[in-house]
Amino acid sequence: MYGLVNKAVEQLVKVNFGDDKWQEIAKKAGVDQTFIMMKPYPDQVTFDLVAAASEVLDTPSKDILEAFGEHWIQFTVDEGYGKTMSLYGNSVLEFLQNMDSLHAQIRLSFPELRPPKISCEQNPNGQLVVCYQSERAGLAPMLVGLVRGLGKRFSTPVELEYLVSAEADSTSEKFLVTFSQRQVA
Ligand code: HEM
Repeated sequence: MYGLVNKAVEQLVKVNFGDDKWQEIAKKAGVDQTFIMMKPYPDQVTFDLVAAASEVLDTPSKDILEAFGEHWIQFTVDEGYGKTMSLYGNSVLEFLQNMDSLHAQIRLSFPELRPPKISCEQNPNGQLVVCYQSERAGLAPMLVGLVRGLGKRFSTPVELEYLVSAEADSTSEKFLVTFSQRQVA
């Protein structure tokens, strides 16, 4: 995955746990370089970072991926993609319906991008059904965090439930998204 992703993992760890923990995680993952945002790296680098973070921070990988997904929404805004984000929707539903177009736009600057396919429909109860399909196994918890991050961005907090499976090596997943009762002003 592009260095932008690895950089976001680095920032998430540094901000929450400090530089020393990041050094420990990077060493365990065999990373001895500064990531270049626009350069593609083997997926294994990212997976090794998540596994090392899980060990060093004594936290399940699933929780690391969820935290990472949530962090990604603000990280991309801070890295200059706020304008792009604002062009692709003003609600969680709109945004998730436009995700494939957003990634297609991102691919103009990241030609080797291999994004997931994401689609979303609203059911009669106002809940969202989100379908996620990736080339990579095990990243579904990242989507949970991403959708939570979008809920925060649009001040409509959400709860997610796995509809298909929560298997660690799954490449496709379906989620039910329920809007929390209390809306943040
Ligand atoms: C402007 C904002 C965004 C940018 C710049 C961006 C960019 C990227 C990049 C560079 C990757 C790594 C893929 C690769 O290197 O092949 C990625 C992966 C991913 N993106 Fe986005 N993205 C954005 C927003 C989102 C949002 C809002 C969601 C979901 C709601 C999302 C879902 C994902 C997922 C789940 C992956 C992991 C790859 C996989 O599942 O196979 N992205 N994105």
